[in-house]
Amino acid sequence: MGFFSGVSRLIFDVGILSWDVLLTLSNLVRRNRRIGHVTPEGHPGYGGHWPEYRPPKETDSRCSCPALNAMANHGIISRSGREISFVEIGYHIRATYNFSSTFCSFVPHFAARMLKRSYSEDTFDLEELDLHNAIEHDGSLSRLDSALERKQSTKHVPFIEELLAAATGKDKNGDTVITTRDLSRMLGKRRAVARAVNKEFSLSLFHKIFGSTNAATLVTVFGGRVDHLHSFLHHEQLPEGWESRIRQPHGLTLMTFNKTILGVELGVREQDWAEAAREAAERHTAPA
Ligand code: HEM
Repeated sequence: MGFFSGVSRLIFDVGILSWDVLLTLSNLVRRNRRIGHVTPEGHPGYGGHWPEYRPPKETDSRCSCPALNAMANHGIISRSGREISFVEIGYHIRATYNFSSTFCSFVPHFAARMLKRSYSEDTFDLEELDLHNAIEHDGSLSRLDSALERKQSTKHVPFIEELLAAATGKDKNGDTVITTRDLSRMLGKRRAVARAVNKEFSLSLFHKIFGSTNAATLVTVFGGRVDHLHSFLHHEQLPEGWESRIRQPHGLTLMTFNKTILGVELGVREQDWAEAAREAAERHTAPA
């Protein structure tokens, strides 16, 4: 990185984080969006009416992220998953999932840097986000590691089933919900087992935090509702009538989100899964 790009990146990051603090404070004093009005009027999904869901065609581009794939499956971004601009994806994440403008600028900027593209001028295909150990990493909740499954848009159904079955919570309507504690437990298991069966396994602290960030969206955006997560994780589909559970007027800020992310990450206990990891390693190496 050159000196000037380093400085401009620092200015950008400080600017975004300062703006995020202001949005977080403003969220504390302003009224939440009304239920049924979280998705803005005029945006696809307003009132819970999502555009038609169509599973991807063989030629379409999809990635390891269920949230971006779902937007393509509903035609909120191009159904082909190709030639998506970084600016456009941020705009649609803001309206679809109600993340703050700071998150919706920060993450696409990060993706543009990772792909060595211009945030304001270039486009990307969804599958390009699957660059290993950029954002995509080992020990995920819904995908086999890339050393075991090269195509990271491929969901690993047994992992998703196990994750949803691990939900222990109930919300005030009596619906089964996955909790941050459940997510920590399942991340611990996935990391321990992946470490044991994948000879190329790697997971830096940075990627652990990405893993917890992704997991944390399941309790924030979806309120942990297992029936909704079933549709989201298995089919990458937004249920009819669904809207984001984040109701703050400026959306979920980086600062507020960090509390949930840390809660998930600090609860991960890989060491509790040593026995499961040993068994998985034996199964993995046993002759068929
Ligand atoms: C431009 C914004 C985004 C980018 C570039 C992005 C990218 C990614 C990537 C590369 C992965 C794979 C990580 C892994 O290896 O486990 C991923 C997974 C995931 N993302 Fe996103 N994502 C974005 C926005 C979102 C949003 C808005 C949500 C929630 C509404 C979300 C939820 C998830 C979930 C639940 C996973 C699956 C994690 C797992 O299987 O462990 N992402 N994302």
